[in-house]
Amino acid sequence: MAVIAVFNQKGGVGKTTSTLNIVAGLAMAQRQPIALDMDPQGSLSLASGLKDARAQERNMATFFKDKTPLANLLHDTPAGWQLIPASIELSKIDALYSRDPNAAKLLKQGLSEELALTGAPILIDCCPMLGVLTLNALLAADRVLIPVAADFLSQQGVHRLDAALNVLERKLQRKFERRIVITRFDSRRKLSYEIHDKLKERYGEQVCQTRIGENVALATSPMHGLDIFAYAPHTPGAADYKALTLELVKSGFFDN
Ligand SMILES: Nc1ncnc2c1ncn2[C@@H]1O[C@H](COP(=O)(O)OP(=O)(O)O)[C@@H](O)[C@H]1O
Ligand SMILES: [Mg+2]
Repeated sequence: MAVIAVFNQKGGVGKTTSTLNIVAGLAMAQRQPIALDMDPQGSLSLASGLKDARAQERNMATFFKDKTPLANLLHDTPAGWQLIPASIELSKIDALYSRDPNAAKLLKQGLSEELALTGAPILIDCCPMLGVLTLNALLAADRVLIPVAADFLSQQGVHRLDAALNVLERKLQRKFERRIVITRFDSRRKLSYEIHDKLKERYGEQVCQTRIGENVALATSPMHGLDIFAYAPHTPGAADYKALTLELVKSGFFDN
């Protein structure tokens, strides 16, 4: 089972856009991916095209509150992948479990009990905070995909995140396989190249070859409840996410 947390504690770097378009790409490649929306804002759920996605009774908060088996919470999206949607109730989970030392392990237990046998890659769209929800995602994951927007503050954020993952690795005594993907790359800006070079220098092979360019169709498609392949298949945005998905597939990032 490949469990991938899509995380960066900075908002607006392309976590949700990347989760949406990678699961869509994996679905097109018949990999039958599952996405978990662990952001109380529910952007991935909205973009998934699932009807009334944020008002579904079966959602991630149901899992944390009632221990409903994860397999019972899956919804089929129009694009052929499965989703456990977010609901606004998710925002209460941090407060509910803030004093419970075992709360961070709930998702790991849930996944290994129920979805382990399916072999489907599971992508978790995280919220920008390192609270109970994100800790659950990281503890359940063996891999972390880190989208980084090609701007200065995002680049600083990666160093903080890298340090946090190192601490967690020591505590858990295991490694996270990490991939950094540069998003919102603007080929007309010198800064974009500088940030690429700096990240490459520091993180080497962890940085994906494929960069996601700034592309207006990527920003518009979620409004229509569509991924980029359904919304605008001939745009640079679609080509970028196709190439990224392929690169990650080839490197075994979604293998068991
Ligand atoms: N490559 C891109 N080109 C243009 N707009 C983008 C791109 N990636 C993300 N966006 C837009 O930027 C905003 C933040 O992206 P999002 O994926 O929601 O980030 P996060 O989940 O990290 O907060 C959204 O409005 C999204 O549509
Ligand atoms: Mg998001």
